[in-house]
Amino acid sequence: MSYLETTIDVYKEAALTPDVGLCCTTNPIWELPGLKIPKIMQEMNYGCGSTVHARDLTNNPKVLYVGVGGGMELLQFSYFSRQKGGVIGVDVVDEMLEASRKNFKEAEAQNDWFKSEFVDLKKGDAMNLPVEDNSIDVAAQNCLFNIFKEEDLKKAIEEMYRVLKPHGRLVMSDPTCEQPMNETLRNDERLRALCLSGSLPIKDYVKALTDVGFGTIEIRARKPYRILDPKNYPTDELIYIESIEVAAIKDPMPADGPCVFTGKAAIYFGEEEYLDDQNGHILLKNQPIAICDKTASNLAGLGRDDIYISESTFHYDGGGCC
Ligand SMILES: C[S@@+](CC[C@H](N)C(=O)[O-])C[C@H]1O[C@@H](n2cnc3c(N)ncnc32)[C@H](O)[C@@H]1O
Repeated sequence: MSYLETTIDVYKEAALTPDVGLCCTTNPIWELPGLKIPKIMQEMNYGCGSTVHARDLTNNPKVLYVGVGGGMELLQFSYFSRQKGGVIGVDVVDEMLEASRKNFKEAEAQNDWFKSEFVDLKKGDAMNLPVEDNSIDVAAQNCLFNIFKEEDLKKAIEEMYRVLKPHGRLVMSDPTCEQPMNETLRNDERLRALCLSGSLPIKDYVKALTDVGFGTIEIRARKPYRILDPKNYPTDELIYIESIEVAAIKDPMPADGPCVFTGKAAIYFGEEEYLDDQNGHILLKNQPIAICDKTASNLAGLGRDDIYISESTFHYDGGGCC
């Protein structure tokens, strides 16, 4: 059996018997005015962060969500798109599609504004999406891509890139890990399917996105996720896993490389009113400006003693210019 088949088995089981502890998100289940999340959707929250951000969702976006789980985030996306077929949900596991279909009926009963027809559920594989080229404004996946091995991850990201409109965005949440993991952990199909042993360091995760062509990357959140300890897992050392929320935007790739925003800012505190770096950035005196890592390194390379460059906060929330 391949690890992809094991993954299907794990999520078939999780669809038939909801497992509250399967994934572990520290995010509160957020609700908005008029938005109620049915209990069963909360119990089937198998994500590790949130991919729903109001600022991505202006102008009735066409949304694609891959790996539907219990349907909670598709309901949250529908809150913003509110149109027939406005959210396409794709999953490879029949039982998960069936469970989410049932959960949308429950959501209909609890939310006046919601209709099940707002979500168009399709059977399909992340590596071969049943979706047209350049047709999606916002694509999302939560806690699925970390399961994929390198070649499959590349295909899955290429598929998301293919279906997005120019300047469309791929919004994701996945576990990441900065420590090396041994081969026993890496090759344990069940641990991989459970989102515990496939995660990459943030740098490699970002590279997988930019290699496919996404010109802008935003790291929006980074938080503790899990511990793999020697008593319970095949490891000699304690392994700390985090989860991140990331947006990859289908902007053209800049000639000097991608803009990766990790939450750095520059503050000019020199004698003039502002500093113009002659590279598109005006730094007003004593006003932080969000910058990508490439600009941070260019500004540092100027060797000036009147620019402060902050560390990455991994909490980028817009406002950067590049
Ligand atoms: C960890 S769960 C996450 C579910 C949901 N995103 C959430 O946050 O609750 C992974 C989901 O991906 C689905 N899945 C697994 N392999 C897949 C594949 N190759 N293509 C599409 N969906 C897949 C599973 O059925 C399951 O719904």
